[in-house]
Amino acid sequence: MSEQPLPTSALARVPQHVAMIMDGNGRWAQERGLPRSAGHQAGRENVRPVLEACVDFGIRYVTLYAFSTENWNRPVSEVRSLMSLFESATDRDIRELDENGIQIRHLGRLEGLSRLLRQKIERAIQTTQHNDRLIVNIALNYGGRVEVVDAVREIVREGVPPQEITEETISAHLGTASCPDPDLIIRTAGEMRMSNFLIWQAAYAEYYVTDTYWPDFDKEELYKALLAYGQRKRRFGQLNSQVETR
Ligand code: FPP
Repeated sequence: MSEQPLPTSALARVPQHVAMIMDGNGRWAQERGLPRSAGHQAGRENVRPVLEACVDFGIRYVTLYAFSTENWNRPVSEVRSLMSLFESATDRDIRELDENGIQIRHLGRLEGLSRLLRQKIERAIQTTQHNDRLIVNIALNYGGRVEVVDAVREIVREGVPPQEITEETISAHLGTASCPDPDLIIRTAGEMRMSNFLIWQAAYAEYYVTDTYWPDFDKEELYKALLAYGQRKRRFGQLNSQVETR
């Protein structure tokens, strides 16, 4: 990482909520002649410094795409190694998040995850629930379409009359109900895809794609993404003349 200071004064606007598709762990490992699991391990080790950088830049909400509902279709050995990576989160890891004022939330279905992993997620949520320096949603066993399906099922179960169902009703039944929609979605490793991530919430998000692999995505890379975001004009479907910069 550069030794140069990163002047936050150059950031025209800092997004409130940044979501990240952490791609490229496999390619990072392959380029070093390492197994893919080593790439995921390096990817996991990169999460903490990126979260610290988010705090430094004044971002309030971060959503990380850790494991999608489609990732179950990967080879069994890779799924197993990813699950053990998530399961290996220790009490100390949770304590450190807590000491840093980070609140952990989970997006996605808990069903289908091992009992150990469910317990760790629940402990992380419970331990950090009062923190508000940075809210971090971990999307794990998450799929955007499944999330909408689950929301609709819940609305039907509650007996909401069809004519009373609005966009707000759907939003309020998603895992992100208490978060603002993401302002910026960052995808590492170059692919131009949404990959079933926050498909409802991202309706007006700005996208930023970098070729950098996730394990190499550092504070300077995040800064570049924030600079690019600051230069975008967000129009929310309106004309330039109608939109105030925010
Ligand atoms: C995509 O890279 C990455 C994943 C499927 C896993 C992402 C998980 C982590 C970075 C660990 C995060 C941990 C926590 C606790 C949040 P890829 O394997 O598709 O890479 P490739 O496209 O180069 O093959």
